[in-house]
Amino acid sequence: MTVSQQKKPIRKAVFPVAGLGTRFLPATKAIPKEMLPVIDRPLIQYAVDEAREAGIEQMIFVTGRGKSALIDHFDMAFELETTLKGRDKDLSVLEPTRLQPGNLVTVRQQVPMGLGHAIWCARAIVGDEPFAIFLPDELMIGEPGCMKQMVEAYNEVGGNLISVLEVPHEEVSSYGVIAPGKSHGALTEVLGLVEKPKAEDAPSNLIISGRYILQPDVMRVLEGQEKGAGGEIQLTDAMARMIGNQPFHAVTFAGRRFDCGSKAGFVEATLTLALERDDMADEVRAIMRRLLD
Ligand code: G1P
Repeated sequence: MTVSQQKKPIRKAVFPVAGLGTRFLPATKAIPKEMLPVIDRPLIQYAVDEAREAGIEQMIFVTGRGKSALIDHFDMAFELETTLKGRDKDLSVLEPTRLQPGNLVTVRQQVPMGLGHAIWCARAIVGDEPFAIFLPDELMIGEPGCMKQMVEAYNEVGGNLISVLEVPHEEVSSYGVIAPGKSHGALTEVLGLVEKPKAEDAPSNLIISGRYILQPDVMRVLEGQEKGAGGEIQLTDAMARMIGNQPFHAVTFAGRRFDCGSKAGFVEATLTLALERDDMADEVRAIMRRLLD
């Protein structure tokens, strides 16, 4: 990889959104889990907003059957907008939901074979340029947002980056875990990666938290990737094979992360963000006090 390739701008992001959302059934029987709202924004909207803030132009959704609500959400809603206009209502709330044609591209993951396979499904659209990945279950709140912080780090060091955070050691087996090298500021060299290790085998308690900037070479590695943890084709395993050939860093996100893949994490995100909203904080605080008493 040449130096100029290492620092090509990040214009595209892949959102693997084909999952069945079984942990949230029955809520997710007829709507995608990424459409579940934290207050009044669906999870996918937080991720797309974070991508746009980071300068990313093209969103690539890797979807499956029953996921069309995600595409409708970012389309123009002609009837709705006409009705709202006729009633003199403010349309600005819909502004972030409009992606220009061409800025949302979808591809299907026809069989659920894991995160690595989902990313590989987007290879033709990603082409030969570095790209970002967002796992929308991980809700990242910060100023600037997580991906913007990562793009800033990328502009410094190039290569591949993943966002990491510390979790209690007993929780590492639910995640991808890094073997950390030297740190400088928010950047840590990544010496190794392992997906869902047993707690006693984990090289650290620094986990991959759902944001990535990867070189297109990962697609070629994924092409021949064997099944890993859980019998799935793991992105972590493919990334691990790139370490040593290309720069690989972890970025410790200065901000907050909510695990909206779990019900308790979802409730935590909802309560936290509600307490920060001018239009509802007082009311929600009063409700919480009453409940706790
Ligand atoms: C995926 C990744 C894992 C990462 C996690 C973050 O796991 O494979 O490396 O730590 O997302 O949420 P999953 O949650 O799909 O099992």
